[in-house]
Amino acid sequence: MPALVLLGAQWGDEGKGKATDLLGGSVDYVVRYQGGNNAGHTVVVGDQKYALHLLPSGILSPGCTPVIGNGVVVDPAVLLSELSGLNERGVDTSKLLVSGNAHLITPYNITVDKVTERFLGKRKIGTTGRGIGPTYADKINRTGIRVQDLFDESILLQKVEAALDFKNQVLAKLYNHRAVVAEQVVEEMLGYADQIKGYVADTTLILNDAIDEGKVVLFEGGQGTLLDVDHGTYPFVTSSNPTAGGACTGAGVGPTKINRVIGILKAYTTRVGAGPFPTELFDKDGEALRTIGGERGVTTGRDRRCGWFDAVIARYATRVNGLTDFFLTKLDVLTGWEQIPVCVAYEVDGKRVEELPHNQSDFHHAKPVYEMLPGWSEDITKAKTFAELPKNAQAYVKALEDMSGAPISAIGVGPGRDETIQINSFLD
Ligand code: GDP
Ligand code: IMO
Ligand code: MG
Repeated sequence: MPALVLLGAQWGDEGKGKATDLLGGSVDYVVRYQGGNNAGHTVVVGDQKYALHLLPSGILSPGCTPVIGNGVVVDPAVLLSELSGLNERGVDTSKLLVSGNAHLITPYNITVDKVTERFLGKRKIGTTGRGIGPTYADKINRTGIRVQDLFDESILLQKVEAALDFKNQVLAKLYNHRAVVAEQVVEEMLGYADQIKGYVADTTLILNDAIDEGKVVLFEGGQGTLLDVDHGTYPFVTSSNPTAGGACTGAGVGPTKINRVIGILKAYTTRVGAGPFPTELFDKDGEALRTIGGERGVTTGRDRRCGWFDAVIARYATRVNGLTDFFLTKLDVLTGWEQIPVCVAYEVDGKRVEELPHNQSDFHHAKPVYEMLPGWSEDITKAKTFAELPKNAQAYVKALEDMSGAPISAIGVGPGRDETIQINSFLD
């Protein structure tokens, strides 16, 4: 089983970090293929809690080589501070590989992210303010700066000047912001070059060779399916492709090499930032999910919006990612509800629809159609097998599986590595 993709099936924060870390001990490479430090992945190992933003969660497993693929956007200051933070806690990060083709988040990309959001006012996306969108915009616009540019001062200056030519006009004339000085940007970026150089590698070559040799490679998505710039709730999305196809472009590996695609699925739903969310709750149940589930953003500290499980979204994730398995997380959070509503379909303009509406306005107006499933009150955090779960918890999982279109192969019953029920191995 050489190559697997692990990705978010909802709006992010499904527990991808925990799932990746769990597999980390059995895989040779863990690869981030898109996004940047907008991600916040929490990993709990024993009594230690780690919050990773840019680095792949596999970095915490000693035998595993962490890779930042070409599709990632890299803030060099964040990269270095995250590495030194882990080193101070005794984590060996020396194996890290960074693609020379990955794009760099520059200080002016962060400025543009913030001023754009400010000017959008109440129409803002609610970005993480990390410069993600503007960096991807520069990449597509062919004015981006890549990791490899750090090692050629004159090229770096030319590229930064080219990027700023237009941007400074916009910043000064439209946003009333002072112009950015190219030389200052270059000086700051060059200050990171020596520390980053040792990690830079032809990651596409290394990963393809590894797969050909039968090594196990895990592609770890940031964000989630509904935040995908093509398949998500546009424009309330991030600017990359967290969906499975993103692993191919973002790491330079062909689709024929990928054997398994695992969707991480929370037993209820959360979202951070603006945008439609049919099952969102504004009552005491929503507050309870937030409190019991600890639903506060790892990156921005914002409270997450919370709602019931949405099977329409899960089915959509199965479709656009070609999911082979689900990893259902945070089942323990639902302990204590007498009945648990599950959204099985939407009502749009008085009609029942089973699939995600193709039209944006329809999705914004979609009303959830709920089915009530019986809850359970027993503590499930110590359960190690499916049979040890209370009957109603088993029935909840089975119902979600039937509605979602792919087998649930693992269940999270707590944040720790060992608080997991493995039903089918991901590595067969
Ligand atoms: P990611 O962005 O997908 O990696 O997810 P986050 O780390 O942002 O958010 C998931 C949160 O849920 C983290 O605090 C995890 O420690 C926690 N978590 C993951 N799986 C479980 C689980 O099965 N049960 C509980 N109670 N917490 C979990
Ligand atoms: P992980 O990997 C949840 C959301 C932001 C905003 C939108 C665009 O931890 O699941 P961006 O800064 O990317 O331009 O913001 O996307 N967002 C996330 N929401 N989890 C994440 O990452 C997210 N990364 C971005 O809140 O709505
Ligand atoms: Mg997160």
